Amino acid sequence: MSGVFIAFEGGDGAGKSTQVEYLAAHLAARGVERVVTRQPGGTTLGAKLRRLVLDPASGDVDHRAEALMYAADKAQHVHETIRPALARGAVVISDRYVDSMLAYQGAGRDLSLDDVRRLAWWAVGGLRPDLTVLLDADPAEAVEKLAVKDRLEAAGAGLHRRAREHFLALAAERPGEYLVLPARDDRHDIARRVAARVDEIVAARGCRSDVQG
Ligand SMILES: Nc1ncnc2c1ncn2[C@@H]1O[C@H](COP(=O)(O)OP(=O)(O)OP(=O)(O)O)[C@@H](O)[C@H]1O
Ligand SMILES: [Mg+2]
Repeated sequence: MSGVFIAFEGGDGAGKSTQVEYLAAHLAARGVERVVTRQPGGTTLGAKLRRLVLDPASGDVDHRAEALMYAADKAQHVHETIRPALARGAVVISDRYVDSMLAYQGAGRDLSLDDVRRLAWWAVGGLRPDLTVLLDADPAEAVEKLAVKDRLEAAGAGLHRRAREHFLALAAERPGEYLVLPARDDRHDIARRVAARVDEIVAARGCRSDVQG
């Protein structure tokens, strides 16, 4: 029996973590075994890699080196957390997955999107989510607010816009595997739509219940 793999994607502050919690609570109430995790940093090795990337002592981290570290994080995460949980029949909920790497590296223009795609999908052994929930929001709002406080963030407005376009383009490539929702809709409304879709997939798959009987 195999589990169900759900990924949440979207820009910074889109509400991913909020919706991950709602979905986890929904599954818990239904007695479905679930594993909540995140990329990057969902494993001990991954957390160390993330600290390395962010540590100023690492100096000017080359974009290829950075991409390889993110890829290593993904490989370990799939090996250590996601695949074993799916093999047990659990529902795995990941806060960000491959699409985030593609959207941001692609938006950054430092590396070719084709290279990043090959690298990221190789790292995860081609494991695709059964469903990716894309919380789509216009980054202009958030960035406008930040621009007042932080000129550096304001300079990144183009990056966030391009990342959004990448997310949407990825969803358009495989519409059957995505649920694209406006991130600023009412959060309970979003949670209900996500739960309805996940319930269908779980019912079809017959996921393991943690209510022993
Ligand atoms: N549907 C919504 N409408 C308005 N505000 C929301 C909604 N969902 C979440 N928020 C609020 O937006 C903020 C960011 O939410 P959250 O932390 O879930 O986003 P995130 O995508 O996980 O962010 P990050 O990329 O920083 O991890 C929080 O203050 C949260 O309460
Ligand atoms: Mg979050």
